[in-house]
Amino acid sequence: MTRVLFVCLGNICRSPTAEGVMGRLLTTEAADLAVEVDSAGTADYHMGAAPDARSQAAAKRRGIDLSGLRARQIVAADFSRFDFILAMDGANLAHLHSIRPATATAHLDLLLKFAPNRVCRDVPDPYYGTKADFDQVLDLVEAGARGLIEFLKSRVSLNK
Ligand code: 4NP
Repeated sequence: MTRVLFVCLGNICRSPTAEGVMGRLLTTEAADLAVEVDSAGTADYHMGAAPDARSQAAAKRRGIDLSGLRARQIVAADFSRFDFILAMDGANLAHLHSIRPATATAHLDLLLKFAPNRVCRDVPDPYYGTKADFDQVLDLVEAGARGLIEFLKSRVSLNK
């Protein structure tokens, strides 16, 4: 089992979107991969909250239901529980490196490192943005998740 944690600032917009998109793609396109997904925020602003209504709406336009997710803040144990901790942007990746326990085993990186065309490095924070910004989060996160699935598939075949 490979465990992947997606991380943004508040865990109400980008990382729950990544969790939902990755979960959907794993079910529909990679049922043979044993991957568990979760998401968390580096900040504690929205702990216990459902994803932002605008993120839920943008995901729903693509048939993905985020309503059951609840925000949490990353904890030290996550750095050993997960194999990959993938940040939505450079600021959150830097924050993760700064709080990484010495005993951490997780590989820390940016989600968009896995996007095939590498259009950009960050999934921009849509919180003060428009509907188009929330749709862009879906586009970027899907590109990253597809690339991540290809990477995980190639890793499985190498181990065979
Ligand atoms: P997220 O978006 O990091 O993608 O969940 C944000 C959510 C809340 C805030 C900032 C970004 N905030 O400042 O409350």
